[in-house]
Parts: sequence; structure tokens; C-alpha cells
Amino acid sequence: MRPVHSALFCRLLPAPFSLALRSLVLVLLCITPRCQAVQAENVTVLEGGTAQISCRLQNYDGSIVVIQNPRRQTLFFNGTRALKDDRFQMVLFTPRLVRITLTNVSVSDEGGYFCQLYTDSTHHQVATLSVLVPPETPTVEVKQEAVEGGEVELTCVSPRSKPAATLRWIRNGREIPGVVSQQDNGKTFSVSSTIRIPVERKDNGAALSCEAFHPALGGQKRVRHYRLDVYFAPTVRIIPPSGILREGDSLILTCSITGNPLPRSIQWSKINDTLPERAEISGPTFQISRLSQTHNGTYLCQAQNNYGRAADHYTLLVYDNVSLITTVPSTPKTTQPITSHPVTPTLLTPNFTQDVEDPGAVVETHSAVPYAVIGGVLALLVFTVICVLIVTIWCSVRQKGSYRTREPILAWY
Ligand SMILES: *[C@@H]1O[C@H](CO)[C@@H](O)[C@H](O)[C@H]1NC(C)=O
Ligand SMILES: *[C@@H]1O[C@H](CO)[C@@H](O)[C@H](O)[C@H]1NC(C)=O
Ligand SMILES: *[C@@H]1O[C@H](CO)[C@@H](O)[C@H](O)[C@H]1NC(C)=O
Ligand SMILES: *[C@@H]1O[C@H](CO)[C@@H](O)[C@H](O)[C@H]1NC(C)=O
Ligand SMILES: *[C@@H]1O[C@H](CO)[C@@H](O)[C@H](O)[C@H]1NC(C)=O
Ligand SMILES: *[C@@H]1O[C@H](CO)[C@@H](O)[C@H](O)[C@H]1NC(C)=O
Ligand SMILES: *[C@@H]1O[C@H](CO)[C@@H](O)[C@H](O)[C@H]1NC(C)=O
Repeated sequence: MRPVHSALFCRLLPAPFSLALRSLVLVLLCITPRCQAVQAENVTVLEGGTAQISCRLQNYDGSIVVIQNPRRQTLFFNGTRALKDDRFQMVLFTPRLVRITLTNVSVSDEGGYFCQLYTDSTHHQVATLSVLVPPETPTVEVKQEAVEGGEVELTCVSPRSKPAATLRWIRNGREIPGVVSQQDNGKTFSVSSTIRIPVERKDNGAALSCEAFHPALGGQKRVRHYRLDVYFAPTVRIIPPSGILREGDSLILTCSITGNPLPRSIQWSKINDTLPERAEISGPTFQISRLSQTHNGTYLCQAQNNYGRAADHYTLLVYDNVSLITTVPSTPKTTQPITSHPVTPTLLTPNFTQDVEDPGAVVETHSAVPYAVIGGVLALLVFTVICVLIVTIWCSVRQKGSYRTREPILAWY
């Protein structure tokens, strides 16, 4: 066993030291129980961090201390650098403690570091260096686009961690169990968690998150937020104008559209007819100024995306000026809109309807008359009472005694 060991050891050792070491290994033997000893401590460090590898010495008597890497290449030979790797530094060499540091640790640095002491016999201890690789914030991959009524497949991926990260899918504070798969990439792991969830249009924009947990994150987690993008066919609704439309009025229709993706173009049409020349279309708004009865008909708003199409219709009935007269109760005012219609029809119509149909104004003028009458009557009453009083007093002054009994009776008038 020993010759094989030392042969390998010497092969890996830089030339100047191999000869000296070979002789030492062969010469030095430890038989007594009170010999020198060395102790090594295991180290765990984050990737990119700095590791301290320490060897504790007991009863050190000035022997040669050799520190080797996991490939058994000598890093330091009794304090002197042997391997050309500036990431290793000897920071301490006392009779009790030898310490080296390794900066910018990578997973390939993992393994057992040998603290070897050449005395009567060869003592060695191994310090195991473990490297943790915390996961980056995971990513979300969509394997299949989400269409309403279907399912969406989402995969949360953490491409590199050591040990393997734990992934959790969360929606509304609840975990959605996923199918976890783990792949070993040599020293690190790639982890993924896949969920399949049914989607409706109400799920569009719903928030999900994928959380990655790892011992190196110390209770913290790396979270990726994801919003569902659910595709669905459009819905179309025409918002109709309120009230009756008469000749000369303006028609404004607004088409309210949903859909994902939102339909880019809206088609306006008239069933069994062409659109009137005066029709003005700007996106969701359809307008005809100065309506006439030839505009009667059914108008259609249509929209489509890759997932379907939808339409809504509006039936326009333009009432003539004659029916206008019959619908308006106040006769003296009807002459006004008829004569002024050709000049500024759109402006006068609302003014006119306001004058006639505002019930508040009518109630106000009616209530003003009774109040004036009541006030006048009250004033008259008070005046009469005062007059009667004056007359009574005057009478009582002139005819004292005999008419006194009448006073209370007179006061009742
Ligand atoms: C150091 O790590 C090695 C390998 O993981 C293990 O066998 C050994 O028991 C550890 N030593 C100590 C002191 O924890
Ligand atoms: C090894 O290094 C230590 C500390 O510098 C020194 O005391 C000791 O004499 C050295 N041993 C040999 C054999 O050179
Ligand atoms: C650390 O090591 C990695 C490769 O392991 C290298 O790409 C990086 O540049 C190093 N960083 C420093 C600061 O030396
Ligand atoms: C359009 O014309 C067809 C046939 O000419 C008729 O059956 C249908 O009722 C018409 N539609 C409307 C809305 O007028
Ligand atoms: C338009 O509709 C109104 C209301 O129904 C009706 O009185 C009128 O005759 C129609 N005009 C035409 C040209 O269809
Ligand atoms: C109604 O008024 C419009 C505009 O003032 C006018 O062109 C039309 O001839 C009138 N129609 C009738 C039936 O009076
Ligand atoms: C309403 O009528 C008044 C006069 O009666 C006029 O000054 C005003 O411009 C009219 N407003 C509209 C919107 O037609």
C-alpha cells in the first residue's frame, strides 16, 4: 500500500521536492504512541467565496508540513509555495496551527485537502472542502400557450445549484404541486418543476410565483413572479345612444371590445346595405351626423383575433319631425325646432328637449304662485285684526263700562 501511495505522490509532486520527500517518506517512521499529530477541519464555503483550510499540530518538533490538494498536488512544502496557483495563500504557520486560504472557490476545488506531517511515520489528516452553489432566481418556461378552456404548462427552472434547490409553485398563497425533475451536471444540479393548470379568461393576468429554496440562502428564497397570459376570443358590445333619434340628430355608437390579444381592427357595416356616405369611423366609434330616415337599418360592429370573432348589432330607427310634434306636449314651443332645424339642428335639439322635459323648472314656477297668495292672505288677515283692534279700543275709550263685555267676542274675528 505505502509504495503505491508514495509513488503516486511523488509523480504529482514538483520536481525539486520529490527527491527530498521520497527520502523523508522512506526514512521517517513513527513507532511510539507519543508522536506528533495533525488535525484537520472540514470546511464549507459558497462558490466564489474564500475557504480557510486549517491544520492543527500537536507536539510539533520542526518536522516538514506538507499541504496537498485533492489531486494530491503539493500546495505548500513546509511553508513554501509549491504549486503555481495564486488563489492559495499560506496565512499562518505556527507550531500549533498551519492555515492556508483559497479565494474564489469553485466546485472543482472540492475534495479532501491533506495536511501531512513527516516524522517517524507519516501522519496525515484530510480536511474536506465542500462548496455550496446557491441557485439564481429561477426562470419560467411556457411549454404551451394558454388558450381559454385549455391548460397551460409552466416549468420553473433552476439551472444550477449544489445541493439541488427545492422549487415551489405558489398561487394565491397556496402551493401548487408540480412534477419535479432533477438532473446531475457533474458537480451541480439542474432542477425543474412543471405544473399544468386549466385556464379560463378570468385567469388572464393571474399572478403565480416560483420560489427556490436552498441551504446556502439561509431561510431566504429566490422568487420568480409570473403572470398568466390567457388567449381568448373577442367579445363585442355596442353602447347605444340614449333616447329617441330624430331627423337631423347625430348618431354616435361606441363598440366596446375585449379579447386577448385585443383585436387590432374593428369592422363596421350595415346589414343588406352599404354604409351611409356621412358615416365617420374612428376605431371603436361610429358616427353619423344629421340623421335622415334613409339611415334606418341594422349596423354591425365586428372584431376578430386568432381565437375567434364576435359581432354586435344596433338597429337604428330615425323618427320624423311629425312624430316629434306628437310626442311633445307643449304646443307653443314646437314651432321653434321645426323652423330652426335646418340651421343648427344638432345644437337646438338638446336645448329644446331640455326646455320641455325639465320637470323641475315647471314644479318650481307652480309652487311659487301658492306661496305668494298665502303671504298676501296672511298680510290681509293681520291688517284686518289690527284694524278691528284699533276700532275696538277706540270704541271702548268712547263708551266705557257698558260695552266692555264685548271685547273677548270681538277678539275672535
Ligand atoms: C469531514 O468530511 C468527511 C467527508 O464528508 C467526513 O467523512 C468526515 O467525517 C468529516 N469530518 C468531520 C470532523 O466532520
Ligand atoms: C519547517 O518550517 C518550520 C516553520 O518555519 C520550521 O520551524 C522547521 O524547522 C521547518 N522544518 C524543516 C525540516 O525545514
Ligand atoms: C473566479 O473564478 C471563475 C472561474 O472559476 C472566473 O471566471 C472568475 O473570473 C474568477 N473571479 C475572480 C475575481 O478571480
Ligand atoms: C337581408 O336580406 C335578406 C335577403 O335579401 C333577408 O332575408 C334578411 O332578413 C335581410 N336582413 C335584414 C337585417 O334586413
Ligand atoms: C324609419 O324608422 C321609423 C321608425 O320606425 C319609421 O317611422 C320610418 O318610416 C322609417 N323610415 C324608413 C325610410 O324606413
Ligand atoms: C324634418 O326636418 C328636416 C330637417 O329640418 C327636413 O329636411 C325634413 O324635410 C323634415 N321632414 C318632414 C317630414 O317634415
Ligand atoms: C340653448 O339656447 C340658448 C338660448 O336659448 C343658447 O344661447 C344656447 O347656445 C343654446 N345651447 C345649445 C347647446 O344649443
